[in-house]
Order: sequence, then structure tokens, then C-alpha cells
Amino acid sequence: MKEPVRTAVFPVAGRGTRFLPATKAMPKEMMPIVDKPLVQYAVEEALEAGVTRLVFVTGSSKRAIEDHFDRDAELERALAVAGKQDLLSLVRAILPAGVSCVYIRQGEPLGLGHAVLCARPAVGDEPFYVHLPDDLIRAGTGCLAQLRAHYEVHGSSVIAVQEVPPGRTRDYGIVAVDENNRLQQIVEKPAPEVAPSRLAVVGRYLLSPRIFDILESTGRGAGGEIQLTDGIARLLGTDPVYALPFEGKRYDCGSKLGYVQATIDYALADPSLEAPLRAHLQTLR
Ligand code: G1P
Repeated sequence: MKEPVRTAVFPVAGRGTRFLPATKAMPKEMMPIVDKPLVQYAVEEALEAGVTRLVFVTGSSKRAIEDHFDRDAELERALAVAGKQDLLSLVRAILPAGVSCVYIRQGEPLGLGHAVLCARPAVGDEPFYVHLPDDLIRAGTGCLAQLRAHYEVHGSSVIAVQEVPPGRTRDYGIVAVDENNRLQQIVEKPAPEVAPSRLAVVGRYLLSPRIFDILESTGRGAGGEIQLTDGIARLLGTDPVYALPFEGKRYDCGSKLGYVQATIDYALADPSLEAPLRAHLQTLR
């Protein structure tokens, strides 16, 4: 497996109930960190990794995602007439030329493995990325580009991991690896007593298309859902899969705390906000 990885799959069908009422009529992936929706950070990371085909696996009330990545001629005209060239370039750059979007509905909430399987017709028989936009990763080199660099050397599936505190294994897929970081085992959300390590899967994967046949016959696992983790566990029987402890800071933007932390850190990294925000934070002490 050494073909270029052209496609990224974004499973974005979840309802985001943890953020209700904000997510009643708006996709959680459209929630902004400062001034950019989470899903745009996700797409930018994929573009940096060389992706030209974006596959969104969506559900109901997700139309705003399609609108976001579509041209808006009326808005562009209004910005042009008002002479707001900077903003005009900014909205035009959301989706560069030569990049296509595919939207596939996940009719039922059957889990991440099922969502990935829904993308099969758009991905075809090629290696592909899976990116979970809730997991925001701030890094010098984007996390997917880091996976790509690993793949270019090893030619195998690879997933991003980070160490979590012992009490948190129940929130993640947990892997056991050998001395070369090759996966020996992967388990979905194990209790700390039975977790094979503290190395947790974050939402970035580069996968062989062989995962699709496996997911076709993967039954429901943890939480009654078809788990991508269970599919990867079966893939290990025939294919090497590596874990990559990536460089960067990850924010769990599926949780309110992670979302707020990301907002503060990204705002502090914005030169126009840093000084007044720091001044504000000082007053809180
Ligand atoms: C999913 C995966 C899990 C992974 C996590 C990363 O879980 O099933 O293996 O560790 O994403 O965020 P979820 O957070 O959707 O419950």
C-alpha cells in the first residue's frame, strides 16, 4: 500500500446532544473556535495532508456543513461591492479549486464503524483518512500530515495515539503496541483494570481499504454500535497497523471543557486578541 491518500472521511452525523440547546438546529461541527467552525479546521488539516476529496458522512440537521463548503455568490458579490477584499478572499479560500466534497447520509446512528462503511462508495479501493472533527489538534505539522509521513515510510495503516490518565481509558479506543509501535491489540473503551495500556486513539486514522470488507461483517460492539475499533482489531489479523504518538496538543471539543480550553488557547494565539484577553484573564485571579 503506497498509493497517494486522496480522500478524507469526516463522520459528522452525531447530534451533539452534549451541546444542546446550541446544537438543536446547528451541527456541532459548525461551532466556532474563535471565528472558524470546527469542521473547517478539520478540512484544512486534510488539505494540508494532500487530500482532494472530502467525504462527509452526515445526518439530519447538518445542511449548514454543505452550505459552508459551497460557494455563496450573493455574499461574495456583497463583499466585493463593499470593497472588503480580505473577507472576500477568506470566504473564497474555504474550499480551494480542485477539491471536491461528497455528502453521504448515515441513515441510522449505528456507530463510527458504520459511518466509515457508509463512505465506501465514495472512497473506493484506496487508502483513506478518517478525521473526527471533535478532536481538534493544534500542531506545527497537522496530525493527518504526520500520519501521511509515517505511511510514506511504512506503507501501512496508522492511527494517532496519545497517553491518557489511567481513569480515562473508558473514553477511548486503547491500543497495545510492540517496540516498533506496531499494534498488537486494540479495544474500545476498556475499564482501567483490563485496559492493555494507557495509549488512547484520538480521532485520526489512515486506513487500508481492506477495512471496508471487515466492517461489512463486524457486528455491534461496545454501546451496541458497530465500532471502527473492532474493525481495526480484525484488520490486525492480516495487515500491519501502526500507532503514531503525534506531535501537538489535542482538545476534546466534544466536551464543554475541552471546547472552552480550545477557544482560550486559539484566542491567545491570535495576535489581535492575545493582549486584551490576557488582560481580561488577569482580572479573574
Ligand atoms: C471514538 C472512537 C474511540 C476513539 C475516540 C476518539 O469514540 O470510537 O475509539 O478513541 O473516538 O475521540 P467516541 O468519542 O465517538 O465515543
